[in-house]
Parts: sequence; structure tokens; C-alpha cells
Amino acid sequence: MANQLLSTVSYRDSLPEGYARPEHDRPRLADVRTDTNIPLIDLASPDRHRVIAEIDQACRTYGFFQVINHGISEELLEKVMAVGLEFFRLPPEEKAKLYSDEPSKKIRLSTSFNVRKETVHNWRDYLRLHCHPLEEFVPDWPSNPETFKEIISVYCREVRLLGLRLLGAISLGLGLEEVYVEKVLGEQEQHMAVNYYPRCPEPDLTYGLPKHTDPNALTILLMDPHVSGLQVLRDGAKWIAVDPRPNALVINLGDQLQALSNGAYKSVWHRAVVNEAHERLSVASFLCPCNSAVIGPAPKLVGDGEDPVYRSYTYDEYYKRFWSRNLDQEHCLELFRSQH
Ligand code: OGA
Ligand code: NI
Repeated sequence: MANQLLSTVSYRDSLPEGYARPEHDRPRLADVRTDTNIPLIDLASPDRHRVIAEIDQACRTYGFFQVINHGISEELLEKVMAVGLEFFRLPPEEKAKLYSDEPSKKIRLSTSFNVRKETVHNWRDYLRLHCHPLEEFVPDWPSNPETFKEIISVYCREVRLLGLRLLGAISLGLGLEEVYVEKVLGEQEQHMAVNYYPRCPEPDLTYGLPKHTDPNALTILLMDPHVSGLQVLRDGAKWIAVDPRPNALVINLGDQLQALSNGAYKSVWHRAVVNEAHERLSVASFLCPCNSAVIGPAPKLVGDGEDPVYRSYTYDEYYKRFWSRNLDQEHCLELFRSQH
């Protein structure tokens, strides 16, 4: 129901019912540190081999990195953030028209993660769009704000090019042909989540998004330049904050690249936390294999006489499995390990 949207009401004193996590499952915000060594990769560096090696290293260790000089202009990034915020500030009746909690819909405004399945809600509203091919989906996108379609279309096009460039570099870093990953993933879908995290009266008790890995191949995240919220799990144990950096984009690997790399690359656990003083916006672009793509470890990456770590499956099978679970259960890829 549209009246579950957080962005239509202001909660000043305490969390409404259904948002507080049990004691053992709270973000412990005071224990989280900022990691200043998060890989930062300059994509305009003339030394291409070095860029590929840096991406490879980041994918093996952190599973995510930030890129600068990525080719998307500062002006466009600012416009995307501004129009995103403007959207969430629309009057409730305008937003209610787009509300849906049916995950298969190709455009919808929703809240939390999967309100039909979850028992505790998350402090997030989100607008989810399919973005490729643009001509097919843009007509159904919001026409209010007036500039939304135009700005987001241009951004989607540029993000896709960046994503494909990164997949080329990732293939090379794995020692595969440059087009290998792109070929396996097929005609990739592209989805977007415009995430809006309102100010929260009790940020220690809840999440914007609880810990999860992204089920797709590659995620490109544009973050609010002024407000932190993204946290990543390091070494399976320690949450670190990824603070925004001007004009940088955060790249994180999704489950499909972990599978394809036979486990060499990591699809890391990450989460979004909220805060009392500021609302926060992030725009996540997901490159997703086409549904019929058959995904499994690249044969070249499986040692002689060894079994691949994961079995092959279609993305369709994976995606259905992902959405049938709770977000913070075990790593979905664990369900696809080869049987010995
Ligand atoms: C996501 C995500 C993090 C953030 O949308 O999958 O992880 O900081 N977002 O909003
Ligand atoms: Ni994510």
C-alpha cells in the first residue's frame, strides 16, 4: 500500500512499528570505521595495464572499488541526484500512482525491500526502473518531474557504456579475452534503483538496506556526495564505511562475477545505514545477464582435474531463487555450489 511509503510522512520521535531489529541484528554504528584505503581507480590513466591490474586486485580483495575520471560529467551526476530527490518530494497522491510491491514489475515505486515477504522493514523507499533498451521502457517512466526521463535516459546510456568498459577490463584481469564476460552475459538488461533514505529518528535500531550481495553482474552506484551510509563487510567480519568522494562512482561486483570467476572475485556483503540528521539518496545501476544466459565458472579458471566451485545455471533460475529469499540470508551463490 502506498501509505507505507516513508517519504510521504515525517517520523520525528521514534520508529513506527515493524522497523526495529532485534538486539543481535543492529548496525552498531559506533563500531564502524571509515576505510581510507578503499581502492580508487583513475580510469583516465594512460597506463591501461596498470588500470586492469588495479581492478583485478580490487576485485580479488575488496570486491568493490571507486572510479574517478570515468567519463560521466560532474554536471550530469548532479542533475541525476537533483531530479531523484525532486521525485521523492512529489506529493503523496502523485507517488501513489506508481506504487507497487510486486517485484516483477518493470517500473515501480516501493518501500523497504520485499514488503510481501519480510518480517522487519527497512528505512528506504525506492524507485525501480528497467532501462534497456531505453525506447521500450522510457515511455512508462515518471513524467513528473518533467526533466526526469531526459536526464535519467542520458545517464543510463553513459552508465551502460562505463559498465561494459569495466566488464572488458575485468575479463582481461581474469586472463580471459576482453569480450569474454560480455559474451557470456548476453544482451544484458539494465535496471536502476533510486534509493531514498529519509531521516530516521532511531538509526541504531534499523537499516536502510540490511546486509546483502547484489544478484546481478556489476553494480555502479552514484552516492549522495554529502551523506555517508554505504558500508561494506571486510574480511567477513568488520563493517567499514565507504564515504562519498566527489565525482567518484562506486563499483561493486555482483554474484554473477563471483560465479564466473570461479570464486576468485568477491561479491561482497554490503548494507546501507541511515541517520538522524540527513536524508540520503543513492542511484544504483545494475547490469544484469540476460535471463537465458548460462552462467558458470569460466573453464580457463578451473584448475586441471578440479571441479568448478559453482555449477552452471541460467540467470533466470538464479534471479527467481534470489527474490524468493530474505535479503540477509546466506549468500545466494552458496545454493549453487557444485555437488561433490
Ligand atoms: C543497492 C545498494 C547501497 C546504498 O541498491 O543494492 O546496495 O548505499 N545500495 O544505497
Ligand atoms: Ni546492493
